[in-house]
Parts: sequence; structure tokens; C-alpha cells
Amino acid sequence: MARILIVFSSDHDGTGKMARALAQGVESVEGCSAKLMQAEEAKAEDVLAADALVLGTPVHMGSMDWRMKKFIDTQCGGLWMGDKVIGKVGAVFACGSGYGGAGSGAELTLLAMLNNLAELGMILVPLPKNAPNYQQSGLQWGAYGRAHNEDLSPIDGGLPDERTQPSRAHGVHIARLASALSGQKIFD
Ligand SMILES: Cc1cc2nc3c(=O)[nH]c(=O)nc-3n(C[C@H](O)[C@H](O)[C@H](O)COP(=O)(O)O)c2cc1C
Repeated sequence: MARILIVFSSDHDGTGKMARALAQGVESVEGCSAKLMQAEEAKAEDVLAADALVLGTPVHMGSMDWRMKKFIDTQCGGLWMGDKVIGKVGAVFACGSGYGGAGSGAELTLLAMLNNLAELGMILVPLPKNAPNYQQSGLQWGAYGRAHNEDLSPIDGGLPDERTQPSRAHGVHIARLASALSGQKIFD
């Protein structure tokens, strides 16, 4: 049994679609549940009540957006000060439009959030390269969604379904790890 909290921000629903795919992956694992929350509504208590925290953001100028940073600073800051979530599972995903080969800053965005989760003492989940459609929508740090065509023209219907496959796989891995670690004490 593991409770996975997915906190995300999104303007055009690319990150939102990834969040829902990740939640589907979580719920495909027996005994695991996913809770989706907007970064602006999630509170420290929600993180405390979960076994795993997953952060998802749009890529904004090569970094996470302000809503995600606000959630981390205002809600996770106290947890960090008090060593409250050490040993929980953490993971990340991000959606960019695709400026540059790997989405212009998508890696930095994912790494910035992973860095914050590591500061919290969490056990981080990578995205292995054998995840379905990894070549198009995966990075070792987590799931990545490219919401526009190669020439940056918009895609009808937004982020295509096949580009959410790594998000779903990420959800499965996160849930399995959180479930396996449930009740285990890893750090002193
Ligand atoms: C202020 C701003 C900055 C952005 N910077 C980047 C960027 O650095 N790299 C990129 O690939 N996309 C960038 N984008 C595009 C968004 O990441 C893209 O539209 C994505 O789909 C947003 O996710 P969402 O659909 O969940 O809102 C930027 C968009 C905005 C509004």
C-alpha cells in the first residue's frame, strides 16, 4: 500500500496530461493510490500524508515555473527544516514546447526539482531508457513532454497521447518503489 502525491502546475494542460498519465501508472500497481493536486493548492500536510511526492512543471525559460517554486519554498521549506520527509520517495516530470534539442532547459528543470527533493532527504526515482517511447519523451531524470512540433508549431489537441507513455511508466516505477519501501526505515 502506498499513497503517491502528484503536485503539478500547468497552463495549457501538457503537464496536466502527463500528471494524469503518471497517476494511471500509479493506480495500475496493486494497493497504490494517486492524488493529483495543483501546486497552488497542495499543502505541507498533503506531503506528510503521502509515501511519495512527484513534482511536475512546465519548462519556463529553462526552469520550473513560479507556482512550483512557491510550493517548494512555502510548503516544503518547513519539512526540510524539520527533517520531516526523509526517506520518502521523490520523482519529477516536466513539459516544454521543445526549444532546442532536449527541450531547452528541460534537463535543468528536472534536475532543479530533483535537487530540491534530495535536499528533503528523499529517495529519488530515475526513468530507465527502456521505458516506452523514451526516445521521444524520456530523460533519465524523469518523464519529459514536448508539446510542440519540431518547428515549434502547435500540435492540434496538445501533447499527443504517445508522448505520455514514459509518464505512465514513471508512475508504475514510483508506485512499486514506494510500496516496497512502505514501513521500512532507510535513514537514521
Ligand atoms: C514564460 C514561458 C517560458 C517558457 N520557456 C520555455 C523554455 O525555456 N523551453 C521550452 O521548451 N518551452 C518553454 N515554454 C513553453 C512551455 O514550456 C510549453 O508551452 C509547455 O507546453 C507548457 O506546459 P503546459 O502545457 O503544462 O502549460 C515557455 C513558456 C512560457 C509561458
